[in-house]
Parts: sequence; structure tokens; C-alpha cells
Amino acid sequence: MTRKAIYPGTFDPFTNGHLDVLERALNIFDHVDVVLAENSQKQTLFTVDERVEMVREVVRGFSNVSVDVLHSGLLADYARQAGASAIVRGVRQVKDFEYEFQMSLLNRHLYPEVTTVFLMPNVKYTYVASTIIREVSMLGGDVSKFVHPFVLDELNRKRIGREGQS
Ligand code: PNS
Repeated sequence: MTRKAIYPGTFDPFTNGHLDVLERALNIFDHVDVVLAENSQKQTLFTVDERVEMVREVVRGFSNVSVDVLHSGLLADYARQAGASAIVRGVRQVKDFEYEFQMSLLNRHLYPEVTTVFLMPNVKYTYVASTIIREVSMLGGDVSKFVHPFVLDELNRKRIGREGQS
């Protein structure tokens, strides 16, 4: 039996902290499907196509990882249709937990067969969040230690594009 998990998120952009969580998930599950939420409540810097392209590039070397988009609807329905037994979420700090706890119990209510698994990334990624990476990068700071080189290029491209507009 194949143990399949989904790893959902906005991934705006995918960071080395996300990659660390993905690699930990691959130690537990046979296959992990990275699922990018298109209609996240959040205003994103990157379009969903750009986010997908970045994740695909980062996970290029993994044969047991797929990348997909949740265009609309519930993650719980996606998990059911995908035959996933687990939802993987990374937690860095205690403050992440309240929201994660709510989501996990709601997803279980919607689809009782799915279990949310919380994984902690390496402590060196505790303060690495997409929000802060975007902010620092758009202001010209060096984030090369926290993202894949392809993601870094995309961030730089975005910054240069924005500078050209102003
Ligand atoms: O990376 P994020 O922004 O913390 O990820 C949040 C995400 C995309 C996992 C969450 O917003 C989600 O699951 N959205 C899909 C719609 C849904 O099912 N919402 C109800 C969650 S209980």
C-alpha cells in the first residue's frame, strides 16, 4: 500500500524551510503531493503559475514528489480525491499552532480519514517564513541562504520588475 500525503500551502515563495519539511515528510510517506492553493486568502507576490514553476524546479530531483494546484474548493475534498491519508504542515513556532490546530480539526471533521501531521523544520529555519523572505528580498536584502537559486532568481526578477515600474 502506498502511503500518500499532501503538503499544502501558499508557498509564496517556496523556501528552504519548506524543502526541509518536505524531505522529512518523504522519510515517512512514499509519495508527497505539494499542493499550492490558488485562491488563498492571501495577496500573493507570485502568480500561481510562477509558484508552481518554482516548486517544480526545487523538487526536480525527487521521483516521489508531485506538484499540483488547488484551484478552488476545500483541501479536505482534494485530499479525499487524491487518496491521501495525511496532510503535512510545518510548524516553526508555538504561535503557528493555534491556526494549525483549528485547520487540522476542521479538515478531520470534513474528511475523517485524513490525519494532519505536523513537522518541525531544522531549527535554523525557525525564522524563515515566506512573508519575511519576500519583504527582505523586495528591499534588496540577501536571502540566498534561505531559498533555492531558482527561487532567488525569480525574487530578483520580481524586484527588478517592480523597480522598473516605480
Ligand atoms: O501556506 P499557508 O498560507 O499557511 O496555507 C494555508 C492553506 C492553503 C493550507 C489553507 O488556506 C487551505 O487549506 N486552503 C484551502 C481551502 C480550505 O480547505 N480551507 C479550509 C481549511 S480548514
